[in-house]
Amino acid sequence: MKHTQRATLGGKLSAVLVAAGSSVGLGNIWRFPYVAGDNGGGAFLAIYILCVLILGLPLMIAEFSVGRASRKNAVGAYRALDRKWSFLGYNGVLAAFLILGFYFVVAGWTAEYMVHSVTGELARYSTAEEYTAMFERFIQNPWRPLLYTLLFITATHFVIALGVQKGIERSAKVLMPLLFIILIALAVHSLLMPGGSEGLRFFLKPDFSKITAATVLTALGQAFFSLSIGIGTMVTYASYFKPETNLRHTALNVTILDTLVALLAGIAIFPAVFSVGIQPSSGPSLVFITLPGIFNGMPWSMVWSSVFFLLLVVAALTSTISLHEVITAYMHEEWHLSRKSAAWATTGATLVLAALASLSLGVLNGWRICGLNLFDALDYLTANILLPVGGFFTCIFVGWRLDRKILQMQVTNDGQLPFRIRTLFLFLLRYLCPAILLLVFLDNLGAF
Ligand code: PHE
Repeated sequence: MKHTQRATLGGKLSAVLVAAGSSVGLGNIWRFPYVAGDNGGGAFLAIYILCVLILGLPLMIAEFSVGRASRKNAVGAYRALDRKWSFLGYNGVLAAFLILGFYFVVAGWTAEYMVHSVTGELARYSTAEEYTAMFERFIQNPWRPLLYTLLFITATHFVIALGVQKGIERSAKVLMPLLFIILIALAVHSLLMPGGSEGLRFFLKPDFSKITAATVLTALGQAFFSLSIGIGTMVTYASYFKPETNLRHTALNVTILDTLVALLAGIAIFPAVFSVGIQPSSGPSLVFITLPGIFNGMPWSMVWSSVFFLLLVVAALTSTISLHEVITAYMHEEWHLSRKSAAWATTGATLVLAALASLSLGVLNGWRICGLNLFDALDYLTANILLPVGGFFTCIFVGWRLDRKILQMQVTNDGQLPFRIRTLFLFLLRYLCPAILLLVFLDNLGAF
């Protein structure tokens, strides 16, 4: 319904910016270094980059095509193209909800760190033990993280309520270049720390003897998570793209930007990890206990850390907006709620889940799902299962089920653009990508 009234995004730059706004976020700066550190560094990075190129890029083009061809929310889009495939949209809506459950919590941490940077609290500590103790004290406190999470959810809600176009476009435009600049400064500073080169070696030098089936699945899941694919975000965003947006270029630019940010984050984090004496496998706390150590040695440390955490807050916000939008657009168009009520319903539901996830790191730590607390379980279930499953079925749908003419029309903008990589693109979508995804799954289930 109502697709004539749908907002569209501005020119070419805007399509890239909003899609990059969704992709670049805590996935690059918080999750990527922590899973890379957990999985041995260099070899993980090599597999990650292969996953991005072989699976991520074609899948993003495929999702863009589905979104712009149908101009609907994730569920409506698949349903409009083939009734039987709406389950793929539901998988996305569910994944978006579950991701928001833990993403809002981590986003809240970044907001707290921003405040601590401004007040000078962060600069008071100087050893790895002190940074770790401060972080643990904070996340185990029942109220403070909840408060910041609530703040973050409120901010997301209001941007969504302002409308897709204004809210999202504006914030992405200014802040993305700034994030790059500050990451480069951090990386340079971290590389110059004593003992930093060992960290760089850990991050860049592959040691394939450490690779297991689980490592490959984690790299694959991280690639999907970071690029925001397998979940309907790119379908939803592309439904607002203009007819003249070049889908391939947009996907390529977003992929390059996203990967560069992850790489820079790794180069900034790992030298400092080794220099300060932190375990690279410290898990979700890694970035939060490492960054203060980098800032500490910099002149004007309070200014650097305040600006950095502010940018991280914004990067996280452009990602939470895109996740929120998947659910809001679905409820608005499929349940016929007003956009405002749909946004409120999404906000309310995610608030409850995020509060439980936050408490699961402290007072509710005893609640276990397959041995994991709720926070870790949401992280694992979405990145390692729901997104790759979504990606697998997207390959099958776009590669085998979708009318070839529709795909051709979307990728070539109605015949106006050449499609030289057509054979390669179809080969990847129809054969190679689903085969890899299937093998990785079977391998993780112990089939080999
Ligand atoms: N890609 C975002 C990040 O890296 C997270 C995200 C995942 C957003 C899935 C939308 C969909 O932070």
